[in-house]
Amino acid sequence: MSNLDQIVSAAVADFGQAAEPAHLEEAKARYLGKTGALTELLKGLGKLPPDEKKVAGAAINAAKDKIEAALTSRRDALREAALQAQLAAEALDVTLPGRSRDVGSLHPVTRTLERIQHLFHSMGFEVADGPEIETDWHNFTALNQPENHPARSMHDTFYLQDADGKVMSDILLRTHTSPIQSRYMQAHVARHKHLADMPEIRIIAPGRVYRVDSDATHSPMFHQVEGLWVGETVSFSDLKGVVIDFLRRFFESDDLKVRFRPSFFPFTEPSAEIDVAFMSGPNEGRWLEIAGCGMVHPNVLRHGGIDADRYQGFAFGFGPDRLTMLRYGINDLRLFFDGDLRFLSQFQ
Ligand code: PHE
Repeated sequence: MSNLDQIVSAAVADFGQAAEPAHLEEAKARYLGKTGALTELLKGLGKLPPDEKKVAGAAINAAKDKIEAALTSRRDALREAALQAQLAAEALDVTLPGRSRDVGSLHPVTRTLERIQHLFHSMGFEVADGPEIETDWHNFTALNQPENHPARSMHDTFYLQDADGKVMSDILLRTHTSPIQSRYMQAHVARHKHLADMPEIRIIAPGRVYRVDSDATHSPMFHQVEGLWVGETVSFSDLKGVVIDFLRRFFESDDLKVRFRPSFFPFTEPSAEIDVAFMSGPNEGRWLEIAGCGMVHPNVLRHGGIDADRYQGFAFGFGPDRLTMLRYGINDLRLFFDGDLRFLSQFQ
């Protein structure tokens, strides 16, 4: 075997051994590089006589072609192997069932709250907020509730305990959204104290409230929406207008009957209970109680820092859970809080 044939077969063997592209390039340099075996032979051609030079040159070039062909085919083989390895590593099983995400829906009471906010917004009411853990002062005292009022008993109200498990008499879970009245009044007065004329207060305040109570129509946690409008000339007829307009739009019923039944709350005077009666449907003709309301008691205005001789206003407290039950024909309040998807998914 000639020297050239040996070089060619050594190159082919070396290339075959190269397991990675970098090794292959190193092997290439040993034969075709500047000081490679074949390059050295080409350099030596110059010393040969012209007729031998031609024959030897042709032979070397033929060898070079063979080596380059082997190099190219090894390069292709390595590239193909790398591709196959990558494909195997990143394999996707396209026959697996997809991961679908269920579309959620709003809780029916949330829908009602949004609807209430939307309707009152159109009458110029802003939404206010307050804490669910309240002080005794905001929940009762500021609202003109006397020390011995029954709602203050442990029986009806959840009081918080301190770190030693001792019940604290002055911190509780709010029993209604009315404490937001005095909180908002105080903040409003502070915000506008540089003005000679205080702008009107016109808010609703939706939120959770808590009472020691549980049956088909009472849950220890339920919702209320407080309303408050205070100004210089706000009257009981404004209260009736706002409430009746809201209820007819809420229930989409122009012939809905609304009744203001005299009642008592420590924080309003005069006070009334609001009843509605539907002219059709399962509750046709029956009066159903849905809210309490009245003219804000002067003591409540004073506790809120407002001049009760100059300003007056009305307040109301709706039960949006009740409104939701009536709107959708639901007869058990507990369904709202059980988290049963068979019930909840009906409100998509
Ligand atoms: N806070 C009262 C309740 O929880 C409702 C109410 C609010 C009544 C505002 C009058 C004015 O029963």
